[in-house]
Amino acid sequence: MPTKIQIQNLRKVYDTPERKVHALENVNIDIQDGEFICLVGLSGCGKTTLLNILAGFVEITHGDVYMDGKPITEDYDKGVVFQEYALFPWLTAVQNVEYGMKIRNVPPDERKRIAMEFLRLVRLEEFADLFPHSLSGGMRQRVAVARALAFDPQVLLMDEPFGALDAQTREELQDLTVDVWQKTKKTVIYVTHNLAEAVFLGNRVVVFIPNPGRIREILTIDFPRPRDALAPEFIKTQRRINELIRDWK
Ligand SMILES: Nc1ncnc2c1ncn2[C@@H]1O[C@H](COP(=O)(O)OP(=O)(O)OP(=O)(O)O)[C@@H](O)[C@H]1O
Ligand SMILES: [Mg+2]
Repeated sequence: MPTKIQIQNLRKVYDTPERKVHALENVNIDIQDGEFICLVGLSGCGKTTLLNILAGFVEITHGDVYMDGKPITEDYDKGVVFQEYALFPWLTAVQNVEYGMKIRNVPPDERKRIAMEFLRLVRLEEFADLFPHSLSGGMRQRVAVARALAFDPQVLLMDEPFGALDAQTREELQDLTVDVWQKTKKTVIYVTHNLAEAVFLGNRVVVFIPNPGRIREILTIDFPRPRDALAPEFIKTQRRINELIRDWK
């Protein structure tokens, strides 16, 4: 598989009025096209910063990030799903999914058709005409996923997208995420605190440690899918990642 994203010697220092915050140091990762990469690590180790850099939202202090061999910019097609992603409350579910296409002047019939297709993918076609306040938290996150996918982005950037949800809903959305990923073949970069989630979803799990945020280890997860979160090997891997995160001093 070709390399989709190359991260080389990346450093990020935020220059705040009070002091400089060293968020990322010497980060190197090659992400293959169609790969599902999970980022884990303690709070403050730079996961969101890296996602924002990959979105082109945050400037690089040092090093290089390439997308398809070219330096990354903000204007490539990406889908972004953050924790408690704000849907537009004045738009229905389907209008929320249509929004990006509307901005880009996709004709109304066409964008409605595409939006319904993605609502179907996240199993919400019956709820297309409801406003966000009438949907549950899990349903809103599914709308956010549909919205992120509707423009057929090359890359999907997800930052603890299901973190605020109860365990059952989160598991349901994990299954859905794998399903969508297998159907759409997107490159997915997924931040989570939940190690079981990382081992369930990822082809690789990148373990970060803080001060400054840097990579401790990159683990390849090659358990066949669908994965069994109760299998001994699965739990062993989860435990190993937990140790990598915690015992690094
Ligand atoms: N806009 C900003 N200005 C200054 N410092 C920032 C900014 N954003 C993040 N930081 C700092 O960079 C470091 C990494 O933050 P980041 O949000 O990337 O961590 P994280 O791994 O996503 O943490 P969490 O798991 O809590 O979400 C922290 O020390 C934080 O204070
Ligand atoms: Mg974060």
